[in-house]
Amino acid sequence: MAWKKVCAVSAIQENALLKVNVDGISLVVANYGSGFRAFPPICPHMEEPLDESGILADCVLTCTKHLWAWDLRTDKMLGETEKPLRFYDVKVDRGDLYALIDHEIIYDFDGGEEESDDFFS
Ligand code: FES
Repeated sequence: MAWKKVCAVSAIQENALLKVNVDGISLVVANYGSGFRAFPPICPHMEEPLDESGILADCVLTCTKHLWAWDLRTDKMLGETEKPLRFYDVKVDRGDLYALIDHEIIYDFDGGEEESDDFFS
């Protein structure tokens, strides 16, 4: 395991998402105001790119495709959300954000039920 520099803290505005590539691994970094989170760049529901379809407000990340949402302070799933967001550990050191990356986090899209209701798309 190794801490990898992701970006300068100043590169991520509050309530913003930033997609980055660290040693060939894509991740999205979120500044939720009182902290940071780093997670895979796709929604665990149906692989929607969260840097494009994610909205961050009041510490809650919402995927606008079908409105799954997660509280980034507590990791809790909100509303009708059925899968947790998975995170890389992060830390801030001297103005830079680091993520603990020993392998790429990949969601299992084969094991779950496929949703046929595409009402919100
Ligand atoms: S793809 Fe993100 S909520 Fe469905």
